Amino acid sequence: CGIVGYIGTQAATEILLSGLEKLEYRGYDSAGIATIWEEEIHCVRAKGKLHNLRSKLEHLQTPATIGIGHTRWATHGKPEEYNAHPHMDTAMRVAVVQNGIIENYRELREQLKASGHQFRSDTDTEVIPHLIAQLLKEEIAREPNNTDFHFLEAVRKAVNELQGAFAIAVICADYPDELIVVRQQAPLVVGFGQGEFFCASDTPAIISHTRAVLPLENSEMARLTPLGIEIYNFAGQRLKKHPRLLSLNPMMVEKQGFKHFMLKEIYEQPGVVRACLEAYFNTDWNAASANNNSPINLGLPAELYADLEQIQIVACGTSWHAALVGKYLLEQVAQIPTQVQYASEFRYAPSPLTPNTLTIGVTQSGETADTLAALAMEKERRQGKEPKYHARLLGITNRPESTLGHMVPHIINTLAGIEIGVAATKTFIAQLMSFYALALDLAYRRQTVSSDTLEDILKGLQHIPKEIEATLESQEHLTEQLAHDFAETTDFIFVGRGINFPIALEGALKLKEISYIHAEGYPAGEMKHGPIALLDAKVPVVAIAMPGSVYEKVISNAQEAKARDSRLIGVTPVKDGEAAEIFKDLIPVSAVDELLSPIVTVIPLQLLAYHIAARRGLDVDQPRNLAKSVTVE
Ligand code: G6P
Repeated sequence: CGIVGYIGTQAATEILLSGLEKLEYRGYDSAGIATIWEEEIHCVRAKGKLHNLRSKLEHLQTPATIGIGHTRWATHGKPEEYNAHPHMDTAMRVAVVQNGIIENYRELREQLKASGHQFRSDTDTEVIPHLIAQLLKEEIAREPNNTDFHFLEAVRKAVNELQGAFAIAVICADYPDELIVVRQQAPLVVGFGQGEFFCASDTPAIISHTRAVLPLENSEMARLTPLGIEIYNFAGQRLKKHPRLLSLNPMMVEKQGFKHFMLKEIYEQPGVVRACLEAYFNTDWNAASANNNSPINLGLPAELYADLEQIQIVACGTSWHAALVGKYLLEQVAQIPTQVQYASEFRYAPSPLTPNTLTIGVTQSGETADTLAALAMEKERRQGKEPKYHARLLGITNRPESTLGHMVPHIINTLAGIEIGVAATKTFIAQLMSFYALALDLAYRRQTVSSDTLEDILKGLQHIPKEIEATLESQEHLTEQLAHDFAETTDFIFVGRGINFPIALEGALKLKEISYIHAEGYPAGEMKHGPIALLDAKVPVVAIAMPGSVYEKVISNAQEAKARDSRLIGVTPVKDGEAAEIFKDLIPVSAVDELLSPIVTVIPLQLLAYHIAARRGLDVDQPRNLAKSVTVE
């Protein structure tokens, strides 16, 4: 979910709506805004995408200069209008938007119902306005003269009763000059304008108004008025904080002539790889090695690497796939045993503690609740243990200013620029680049590869941006044509082996996410142990066949599929021989070294998924039921 808020002198409605548009990637099953005008709260909500809310508001423009808004990704309660935020108390004087989950909402709801509060939704959020209204009444009775602090105190006491991870924004019709925002383990930033304040779950919603922002920390709340900001902790102590300037430029969140953000982001990938190469690698390899310096420059301290025996990586979704490529590199190049875990699984069944272990959290947004919780757990369970068991935490993220950035001492910044399309593309490529840098840095320090091999890999990497450009150029029409043939297909299988097995998983995930076609990724050698039963002329198989250690194996696995009448699509640089015979369709990619090939082979799979979804007329950038950053467990 995404939340926004505004207080100042301008008309709030349009600011809230345009802010929500920039946050729609966080959820889009319903939306709503509440403003205060003539001492009343005006709350308008609509099921479905934001344009439904916009059309409802067309005839209802109010001169309100304070308000809050929300775009929802359903957790508790169906995506219906009555469950859309903002939610209000019984008397409709307090309105709240929330991102997160209130874990103890059942008890609170029962208590509040027993004291006469009437609930109108199935959500966990609705307890918050009722609770605040109740505490406000008590506060006024307790300290009748302390009018300045009634609302703030009621909100403070309410959040102390809430359990879970949440960010909220609250307004009250009786305090029309106050907007209160709270952060507890869900992101919230405040933007500073001239006599006005903005707040939002993420910076793109604010950037067109101001670059001066202050991300709140956990257990902090802020009172925003047209005159200023006051920040408190949950105990009510005032804190001193200063905003900082964002480097994000508003152009980064526009489509720039592309039909969809996803297509624009696919085309930005050569530039992303260039940015990573420049940042992570010393181009003058000879000078670096002459000085005994690593040719890789990640800015990580030696103690992170010292006596390293094991690496464990936690991640979700596409980031988990990048981690699998990372595992291949860390094990095969740097010779370090590496485990990759789904963050949501690791939280409840972590592997037994191992000494001298580096734990890496991979999350492009830096806000994925499961990944953050897995890292927090790892930190906690290693506390107080003997030194070799101490936590060594590293984050790989595209948002160093995120919660992850605050949580772990070391970060590799993936430099992809902001990604708006819900299906990750350029952030995946950038995550791969950081794993190449990390594995090669470790290989150099541990001397697990010869300097000639290392130099070859580094040289190969320098050519990758051009290879992606060539692949993009040759693909555009081809994958578009192929998409035409598959517009009616209902199942797809993707196979790969070795370093390209995770790319088969990623190709299947991209297709599922945006085209809603059932797709499975498999290690090619496993196909005969199950999925082969699915194959017939209606089920196409995409095989990633890069020359190298497993090329022949992939080709023979592809033969097995062909023998079951499947239409075979090969992603390969090989245009003759057996490949030409068995693949009905050849998607040519550049002939890069097998070790570097995932950076190239994933490109046609992204394009294939994109064109199939676009041809089906689907909402490529905001596929149903998904959200770009899932800040709930
Ligand atoms: C969501 C997105 C996926 C993404 C996953 C992990 O489910 O829809 O595209 O891969 O979260 O996100 P993260 O920000 O942690 O990389």
